[in-house]
Amino acid sequence: MTDTAQSPMYPLACIVLAAGQGTRMRSELPKVLHPIAGLPMLRHVTNACAALAPERVVVVVAPGMKAVQELVVPHRCAIQQEACGTGDAVKAGRSELKGFVGDVMVLFGDTPLVTSEALLALRQKRAATGAAIVVAGFTPVDPAAYGRLILDNDGRLEAIVETNDATPEQRLIRLCNGGIMLFDGATLGPLLDAIKDDNAKKEFYLTDCIGLARAQGLNCAVAEVSAENVLGVNTRVELAEAERLMQQRLRRQAMLGGATLTDPDTVYLAADTKIGRDVVIGPNVVIGAGVEIADNVEIRAFCHLEQVRVEAGAIVGPFARLRPGSVVGAGAHIGNFVEIKNAEVGKGAKINHLSYIGDAFVGPKANIGAGTITCNYDGFLKSRTHVGAGAFIGSHTSLIAPVTVGDGAYVGAGSVISMDVPADTLAVARSRQSNIDGWARRYREQKTRGAGDK
Ligand code: UD1
Ligand code: MG
Repeated sequence: MTDTAQSPMYPLACIVLAAGQGTRMRSELPKVLHPIAGLPMLRHVTNACAALAPERVVVVVAPGMKAVQELVVPHRCAIQQEACGTGDAVKAGRSELKGFVGDVMVLFGDTPLVTSEALLALRQKRAATGAAIVVAGFTPVDPAAYGRLILDNDGRLEAIVETNDATPEQRLIRLCNGGIMLFDGATLGPLLDAIKDDNAKKEFYLTDCIGLARAQGLNCAVAEVSAENVLGVNTRVELAEAERLMQQRLRRQAMLGGATLTDPDTVYLAADTKIGRDVVIGPNVVIGAGVEIADNVEIRAFCHLEQVRVEAGAIVGPFARLRPGSVVGAGAHIGNFVEIKNAEVGKGAKINHLSYIGDAFVGPKANIGAGTITCNYDGFLKSRTHVGAGAFIGSHTSLIAPVTVGDGAYVGAGSVISMDVPADTLAVARSRQSNIDGWARRYREQKTRGAGDK
């Protein structure tokens, strides 16, 4: 493929605007860091960009947005000193594009549902029409807050008019600016320099580039995208709506990938969840960031998983909690009311009821009895527990870490294990039982004596 503007391989740089304060979120956290499906909103946007293999991605932030700057690495950041409009923000972004030759795409950091397919549609439109600028157009249910796309008689984009500056006739137009714009990089600089703030908001509108470009005889075009792709998040109500739509998308992907979701609407996934084939996920399961589920795994109802790997054929739940740093080995069983944290559970091991296993290694085929607890924390330090392959831990055992139970060892039910147990040994650490003959009968008689006289 040749390397010209007509080719989707033509060099691309992305400028993501994120300098707005997001005051309507009423939050200490910058708006673009609020998560959707376990990932900061901004990361969804930069991921969509990354799929187009841009040469550079620049995120424009406001002074003091240190947390955003840290998130953006390895991409670049530019600082817009004062939020005086999208045109000014892009100008700030261009300071990081020195030496770059190619197309420049401008996106907003608060539109987490944007897809790489939508971005590609803009590139294709520019390749097909040779337009100097392509704008993502969409038809919102309520166009009130959006810039209207004014088309000429040939259906080409003539201008974008912001709502506050629109005439009553222009306000009737339904086709609106979704905010994403693709520029021929060579024309962008001079256009930005020509933008003025003579409008209702006294801001430098990026959208003015269209009118300016047309006045210079340049062609501008619209690529239509779905409303979802450009859904902006300004409040926590919109954040919840974006989350809902993202969850629908992720559930659909999981099902099309070969997983059965018994009641999809009640399963929550993260953007980075990896799910194999023939996985069955029951109702009310919450999967946080960093989860990998291999083929043929069953996650039963009411489980919560975060930063874990579940290997092929394992069965988890119902009502299990798998916390960060855990691995559930192939064919292992984690049952109801079991919490696993930073623990490796070997192949075919069973932890079926009411247990806490933290900072531990549980060997292959080991059996952890109901109510077993690893006492991993002494108030200052966390320590590890090692349970060997094929070991059998009786019910209601406390394993006081650091401690090792050797391969094939047995621990008697109700034990408090504070010393290592060698392989193939039985350890019993509980007080010996004594039976007192006839005690219960005598006790009852004493308590009921004379009761019949009253
Ligand atoms: C903008 C468009 C409008 C479009 C709408 C789509 C302009 C002038 N208007 O309007 O045509 O229909 O988006 O949602 O572009 N930002 C900065 N620095 C600034 C101003 C904004 O970084 O000085 C960032 C914001 O953080 C935000 C994005 O740019 O991510 C858009 O800004 P916003 O104020 O929401 O623009 P709208 O008025 O919604
Ligand atoms: Mg907006």
